[in-house]
Amino acid sequence: MRCSRCGAKAVIRLRYARMALCPDHLEEYLLRRVERVIEGWVPRGSLVLVAVSGGKDSASTASILKLLEGRLGFSTALVHVDLGIDGYSRDCRRAVEELAHRLDRPLITVDLAEALGHSLPELARLARRPLCSTCGLVKRYTLNLAASLAGASRLATGHNLDDVAAYALKAFLAGGEQEAYKLLTHTESVGGLVGRLRPLMEVSEREALVYALSRGLPFNHEECPYVNRDGIEFRAKEFLGLIEERRPGFKLSFLRRLRGRVEVKAEGEGLRRCSACGMPTSTEVCAFCRLVERACGEGVAGRFRRYVEEAVERALRGARWEAI
Ligand code: AMP
Ligand code: FES
Ligand code: ZN
Ligand code: ZN
Repeated sequence: MRCSRCGAKAVIRLRYARMALCPDHLEEYLLRRVERVIEGWVPRGSLVLVAVSGGKDSASTASILKLLEGRLGFSTALVHVDLGIDGYSRDCRRAVEELAHRLDRPLITVDLAEALGHSLPELARLARRPLCSTCGLVKRYTLNLAASLAGASRLATGHNLDDVAAYALKAFLAGGEQEAYKLLTHTESVGGLVGRLRPLMEVSEREALVYALSRGLPFNHEECPYVNRDGIEFRAKEFLGLIEERRPGFKLSFLRRLRGRVEVKAEGEGLRRCSACGMPTSTEVCAFCRLVERACGEGVAGRFRRYVEEAVERALRGARWEAI
C-alpha cells in the first residue's frame, strides 16, 4: 500500500476519502482536520490545558495541538489525574510523563491517593458509590479545577469520533436526555466551568491509534480493568462500526447531522457556586465535596484544592502565556 500523496509506504487506508497515507501525510491530514474543527475557538495567546489519561487518544490530541500552537497562537500544557488503580494507573502515569518530556510541555499531575489519602477504588468503596461514576465525577471536577487554577481558556480532551457517535446513539437508545453539549467540538467558559475543546471529534479511533503508533507516542496499550464491555455504549460502537464498513464516512455524517439539529443549552447555564469549595454546581454543596466529605471526612475538599493549587503552581512556574 503506497501513500496517495508521495508514494512512500502507507500506514493507513482511509476508505471514506479513497486514499492511503504515509506517517507524514497522515499527520498533515489530521492537523488540517483538527485545525478546521478548533480554528476560531481558542483565544490567541491563551493556554489550552490538555487532559491526558495515558491512552492513545489524548496522547494524539496533545501531539497535534502542540504542532498547531504556532499556527493558531496558543500554548499547551498537560494535566493528568493519577487514580491509583493498581498497575494500570502506574503505567498511565509513566506514559504521560514520557509524553510531556517528548513534547517538552509542562505536566500537572494530581495523585488522588496523595491528595485525598485514598485511591479511586478506596474512595468509591468508602462512599458506597459505583466505581465508574465516582471516577467520572472525580475526573470532571479535578480537571476543571486544574484548568481554572491554571487560568486556561480551554480544557482539551481526547474524545474521538467513535466515542461521541456512540455516546449520541446510546443516549437516543436509552431514551435519556441527550447532554447535547457533549456533541460539540467546543464550549465557552461559563461561571467557573472552563470551556471544553474536543479536537479529535472528527478523527476516528483508528486514525488516532495509527497516528500515535506511527509517531511512536508513548501510551498505555492496556485498558482500564474496570471498563464495561457489556454496556450499551460499547455495543453502539460495534453497531456504528458495522455500518461504517458498508458505508464509509457514515459516522462522521451521522454526527454532523445530529450536531446541526440539537438545541444546545450552554453547559454551565444556571449554575451557582458550591458553598464549600466555590466551584460551579447546581446544588448548594457540589457533588465532589459531598462525596469527599462522606468518604474522607470534613475539611478534605479544602486540602484537595490546596494540593491542586500547588501542583499547578509547580508545573507552570516560569511558563508564559497571556491571562484571559
Ligand atoms: P474517558 O472518559 O476515559 O473515555 O476519557 C475521555 C478523555 O478524558 C480522555 O481522552 C482524556 O482527555 C480525559 N481523561 C480521562 N482520564 C483521564 C485522567 N486520568 N487524567 C487526565 N485526563 C483524563
Ligand atoms: Fe475510571 Fe476506569 S478509568 S474507572
Ligand atoms: Zn506520503
Ligand atoms: Zn464543592
